[in-house]
Amino acid sequence: MIEKIEEMFTKIAEEKVNTMQELENFRLQYIAKKGKLNSLFEDFKNVPNEQKRIIGQKLNELKTVVAEKYQKLQDVFQSTDTTKTEKDLTLTGFPLQFGSRHPLSIIKNEIVQIFSKIGFDISEGPEIEDDWHVFTSLNFPLEHPARDMQDTFFLEKNPDILLRTHTSSVQVRVMETTKPPLRFIFPGRVFRNEAVSARAHCIFHQVEGLYINKNVSFADLKQTLLYFAQEMFGAKTQIRLRPSYFPFTEPSAEMDISCTICNGKGCNVCKHSGWVEILGCGMVDPNVLICNNIDPNKYSGYAFGMGIERITMLKYQINDIRLFFENDIRFLSQFTPELT
Ligand code: PHE
Repeated sequence: MIEKIEEMFTKIAEEKVNTMQELENFRLQYIAKKGKLNSLFEDFKNVPNEQKRIIGQKLNELKTVVAEKYQKLQDVFQSTDTTKTEKDLTLTGFPLQFGSRHPLSIIKNEIVQIFSKIGFDISEGPEIEDDWHVFTSLNFPLEHPARDMQDTFFLEKNPDILLRTHTSSVQVRVMETTKPPLRFIFPGRVFRNEAVSARAHCIFHQVEGLYINKNVSFADLKQTLLYFAQEMFGAKTQIRLRPSYFPFTEPSAEMDISCTICNGKGCNVCKHSGWVEILGCGMVDPNVLICNNIDPNKYSGYAFGMGIERITMLKYQINDIRLFFENDIRFLSQFTPELT
């Protein structure tokens, strides 16, 4: 027995441990329940009583030596294991990738800025709306196709709860709560039941504008829109108003700008006409004022609405609306030069 113990002393002293795995092997071989140390203690039970004191002492010595060696080795490995030691504060940090602003947010902010410079406040309304705010109070005839299931996402029928198809609903919400004069823009997300293609999406964004005061005229509207077009697309930009129809404005118009890509000479983007349409507008229909308790004999107003996607596509020459919703970082990170 004594020999066995002595042998073990030398073995332990010679044992070389270089890796965590070897350290674990050391533990299994000597210290674990079924290890060599425990088996010596098992043998110890059969040692005659008169030898027990001497052998017991040796055995305990061996146990201490093993435990100390194991502890020392463990300390060495732990101090080289970077996951367990304190962080070295002089090391360089992990490279953090900056996020970037979505191109639609950049353009929306720009539109908001342009109009706030001439006194427009901002208001936002709910995306889930009722028939009154989206259609009825905006003078939509009952049989108007925009009310149709093919255009509108209905959430509930009778009473009709739906996803707003335009931000004109926020006009109504503002007129309900604010007395004229009022001058607001309403940026927001809208929904239409359209087939998704390069030019159309079932979700898109609009900015609507509304100005109501005494003696507001079509000339005011035209000048405001010219100011907007030139701030947005450059001082040389020209505008053209074509008669159109919206239930909530009378007269109504669609506004084109001179093509920013070919400067009016004709190209693919403007379909060789030199002009591109960017918004709808008009004088607020007296019926809409009446619906919202504003006296049309005292007040008049104009409204306009534009798609943010369209403006962004023109500004950055993007040819597929679906890119805005795919969230591909290679696309998105191109629009925030101040962050790169
Ligand atoms: N609401 C219209 C649309 O979604 C745009 C518009 C707004 C037209 C205000 C005229 C006045 O197409």
